[in-house]
Amino acid sequence: MTEYINEEILKLKKSKNAIILAHYYQIPEIQDVADFVGDSFELSKRAKENDADVIVFCGVRFMAESAKILSPNKKVLLPVKEAGCPMADMATVEQILSMKKEYPKAKVVTYVNSSVEVKAVSDVCCTSSNAIRIVKNIDAEDIIFAPDKNLGSYIQENVPEKNIILWKGHCCVHDRISQEDVLRGKEQCSTAKILVHPECRKEVRDLADYIGSTSGIINYAAKSDHDKFLVVTEEGVLHKMRNENPDKQFFSLRGMTCKNMKKTSLDNVYWSLDEMYHEINIDEDVRKKAAAALENMLILGSD
Ligand code: 13P
Ligand code: SF4
Repeated sequence: MTEYINEEILKLKKSKNAIILAHYYQIPEIQDVADFVGDSFELSKRAKENDADVIVFCGVRFMAESAKILSPNKKVLLPVKEAGCPMADMATVEQILSMKKEYPKAKVVTYVNSSVEVKAVSDVCCTSSNAIRIVKNIDAEDIIFAPDKNLGSYIQENVPEKNIILWKGHCCVHDRISQEDVLRGKEQCSTAKILVHPECRKEVRDLADYIGSTSGIINYAAKSDHDKFLVVTEEGVLHKMRNENPDKQFFSLRGMTCKNMKKTSLDNVYWSLDEMYHEINIDEDVRKKAAAALENMLILGSD
């Protein structure tokens, strides 16, 4: 059945000159049919640098919006309209504007997990893979960082020379993990290296052997001489890790599933391509302002 639907998806992709971009938290079947699988930063770069007419974005809304912001002439489709990121709803334009008034000298650095309207009132966006570099490089001492308080505190630890004004947002998947959960997870294998996403709380990050984005975590495990890893991020990353490292062992923590990332099925991808559904449309004035913040990220955040 999967083989049949994959073939149909490939035919539709060809006839519509489409590409499928997928985040590492997507279900394995979608990662396998995608043209490119990556972390948020890699996906936004890939959305900009390709010559397809249509991008089917298998992820959550803010990711598909970023693709549309950077590639306004392409049709960008989010197969499941309701696939959102609760953290992205934890910062509003009104709140950002009122913070800007309170801290007039501060620059606003916004995590890409945010709405297009919030990006439009930000100076620069960042992802978990480039947040430290961007905050170091930006020419301001005071930084309003929204919406993830955990990524914000991780940046503060790594860039002590700047003053990070923290927001109160969080990711419900990463923030609920406690130090006890990780220590219990380690009972599965006491010698495992602990790999942690920076959306986790400080008490969890403090246990980590490595902290990084989804791609960072995958690359670390691939390059490491070690052969056992406890992966403290959404379970979707294990698909690539296990496929690419058959001789290594990967353990995860129960409950690290992002319901929104798992809303998309292969059927949804097929129907999305067939019916050109659900198209992302953004007001042009808002898009241009948000594009400036994302383009700044691509400049300040690249190696
Ligand atoms: P990455 O940028 O590491 O892919 O993370 C995206 C995300 O939503 C993490 O929860
Ligand atoms: Fe949003 Fe968390 Fe899901 Fe990432 S894992 S998309 S931050 S809810």
